[in-house]
Amino acid sequence: MKKKILTVVGARPQIIKSSAISRAISKYYNKDIEELIIHTGQHYDENMSKVFFDEMMIPLPSFNLNVGSGSHAIQTASMLKGLEEIFIKEKPTAVLVYGDTNSTLAASLAAVKIHIPVIHVEAGLRSFNKYMPEEINRISCDHMSSMLFTPTQKGYDNLIAEGFKSRQKGLASIDKPHVYYCGDIMFDNSIYFSKISENSSSIVSDLNLEINNFILCTIHRDLNTDVKRKMESIFKALLEIVDNTGLKIVLPLHPRTRDRMEYQLSKNLYNKINQSKKIFLIEPVGFLDMIALEKNAKIIVTDSGGVQKESFFFKKPCVILRPETEWVEIVNNGNAVLTDSNYDTIIKSFNLLLSQSDYTYPNFYGDGKASEFICNKIVTYL
Ligand code: UD1
Ligand code: UDP
Repeated sequence: MKKKILTVVGARPQIIKSSAISRAISKYYNKDIEELIIHTGQHYDENMSKVFFDEMMIPLPSFNLNVGSGSHAIQTASMLKGLEEIFIKEKPTAVLVYGDTNSTLAASLAAVKIHIPVIHVEAGLRSFNKYMPEEINRISCDHMSSMLFTPTQKGYDNLIAEGFKSRQKGLASIDKPHVYYCGDIMFDNSIYFSKISENSSSIVSDLNLEINNFILCTIHRDLNTDVKRKMESIFKALLEIVDNTGLKIVLPLHPRTRDRMEYQLSKNLYNKINQSKKIFLIEPVGFLDMIALEKNAKIIVTDSGGVQKESFFFKKPCVILRPETEWVEIVNNGNAVLTDSNYDTIIKSFNLLLSQSDYTYPNFYGDGKASEFICNKIVTYL
C-alpha cells in the first residue's frame, strides 16, 4: 500500500530542501509514496516562499496555515493547532520535517502526541549553543522522531552520543528510532540546480559584477540582527573590507535584516552603507540566482547555515559570522573561519582566506543521492 507522507515546510530553507525529496518521489517512488505538502506560512513574502515553488518545481502545498510572523510562542502555538487538525483529518503514515525552525518543532510535536511517526531530515546537527532557538528546536525534534536522517557523519555521531542506537531491527518507531547517515539533500539540490541556474540566471551580468571578483554576503541570525553592537560591528567590517579591497559586496537582504538595519544601525553607518557604490543591498533572490551568485563570487560572508555549506559545494572560502557552527567539517578542513560578529576577526579572517589557495574539498556531504536513500528507507521501514 502507498505510504501517505505529509511534508511540513514553512521557512525559506525548508521549501528549498523539500524540492529534493519531492523530486525523488516523483522520479522513482510515485508508486510507493503519496506526498502532500503543508505550508505553515512562517515565511510568506513572495521572494521568501512562492518563488521557490515556482522555479524549483515543488508541488503546490495542499494546505497553508498562513500563521505569519510572531513571537516564538505565538507562532509555534498557532502552527500546533492548525497542524493537529490536518493530521487528524488526513491520517498520514508519517509526517516529514526539515531542519530546525519553529515549523519543524510544531509539526513534530503535533504529530508525536497523536502517535504519528515523525521523519526528521537534517537530524543530529548541534551547535551546542542552547541560546539559539534552532538548537532547542532540533534537539526536541530529534527526540520526537522515528526516522532520523543525518547529513553528516558528525550529525550521526551526535545522535549516538545522545543515546540513539546505531542499528535497530524491524520497523521504525518512536521506541526504536532508525538513524541513518545519508548525506545532505542540499548537495543533491545544488548539483541538480547548478546547470539549470547556468542556463537561466542573468543576475551576475544584470548587476554588472565581475566574475570571481565580488563578495556575496547574507545576514539574518537573530544573534546578529537583534543586538545593536553586533550588527554595527558586522556592517563596519563590511565597509572596511570594501575600502581595503575595492571589491563589491552583494547582499540579498532577509526581511528581518532589512527591518532591523533601520533602527539598530546608527544613522551615520546606515547612510554610509546605503550610499556606498560598492555595496548592493538587494531583495532576497530566488535559488537559481542565489546559486549563480555563489558560483561566481570570490568569497562568501554569511551567518546562514545553508549558505556556508553551499560555499563549500561551489568551492568558495567562507567567513562565518557566528561563534560556532553545526557544519564543523568545513571549519576543521580550513574552508571556512568562524568570526562571530567581531570586527577585527572578520577583517583578519577575510584577508587570511583570500590569501590562501590550497583548499581541499573532501566528500563530507554524500553522493548527491541522499533524497533517494531517504525515500528507500521510508518505503522499507515505515
Ligand atoms: C527563521 C528560522 C531560522 C532560519 C530562517 C531562514 C526559527 C526560529 N527561525 O528565522 O532558523 O534560519 O528562518 O530564513 O524558526 N519576515 C517578513 N517576511 C517573511 C518572513 C519573515 O517580513 O516572509 C520578517 C518578519 O518581520 C519576521 C522576521 O522576518 O518577524 C523574522 O521571521 P521568522 O520566520 O520569525 O524568523 P527568521 O529570522 O526568518
Ligand atoms: N537563499 C536564496 N536566496 C537568498 C538567500 C538565501 O535562495 O536571497 C537560499 C540559500 O541558497 C540557501 C537557503 O536559502 O539554500 C538558506 O536559507 P537561509 O539563509 O534563509 O536559512 P538557514 O540556512 O540559515 O536556515
